[in-house]
Amino acid sequence: MFDAGKVIIGLVIFLVLITFPVWYNATIGNASYVPDPQIITTAPACVAPTAYMKASHMDLLNQWRDDVVRRGNREYVAADGTVYNKSLTKTCMDCHSNKAEFCDRCHDYVAVGQPDCWDCHIAPEGGAR
Ligand code: HEC
Ligand code: HEC
Ligand code: HEC
Repeated sequence: MFDAGKVIIGLVIFLVLITFPVWYNATIGNASYVPDPQIITTAPACVAPTAYMKASHMDLLNQWRDDVVRRGNREYVAADGTVYNKSLTKTCMDCHSNKAEFCDRCHDYVAVGQPDCWDCHIAPEGGAR
């Protein structure tokens, strides 16, 4: 004969197992989460090649800060000849005005934490331009 209690327990275990990926992702794991930073700008290109920006934007920012603060040099000439103001807020964040969906998304993902820049520099509120 069958035992209704055992059948129900069996069914519950079965349901938990087949839905595991769904609730695991929704609650604990975020196993399939990727940062997917949103680039919202009408500009065709960044101030340097994308691969370089991806890997080394922090070095470029440090370079810009030192040039401005120590050397009074505010002019950055990109490879294509475009001249930019070496400024975190006026240049980077003018194009990447959606800080939350762009910068923050990556930084949260790699768990570097948020850079302290925004203690002093004014962050844009986000959203598209
Ligand atoms: C003129 C507009 C513009 C300015 C100014 C600009 N960017 Fe960009 N940025 C872009 C565009 C457009 C892309 C995407 C390029 C592509 O798709 O190949 C990009 C790509 C990037 C990426 C790579 C993102 C990814 O997911 O691949 C990073 C990081 C980045 N920018 C950071 C910065 C920083 C930091 C500054 C200031 C030093 C800056 N950008 C200034 C337009 C700009
Ligand atoms: C494609 C992913 C990505 C995007 C988009 C991105 N970053 Fe980063 N950023 C990183 C990674 C990864 C690190 C950490 C590198 C390390 O620890 O060596 C980092 C580090 C930094 C640092 C150095 C942190 C520190 O405390 O010294 C600064 C400053 C920075 N990012 C600024 C920005 C700004 C501003 C934007 C948006 C305009 C941005 N990043 C967008 C991936 C990204
Ligand atoms: C303690 C306050 C403070 C912090 C934190 C800070 N800055 Fe600055 N930063 C300044 C001041 C003040 C200037 C000088 C402003 C000027 O001369 O235009 C400056 C200038 C700069 C400049 C050149 C001028 C401009 O308009 O952007 C860059 C680039 C820059 N900082 C990047 C960064 C980055 C990247 C971080 C985070 C890793 C950061 N700063 C953190 C105070 C700060």
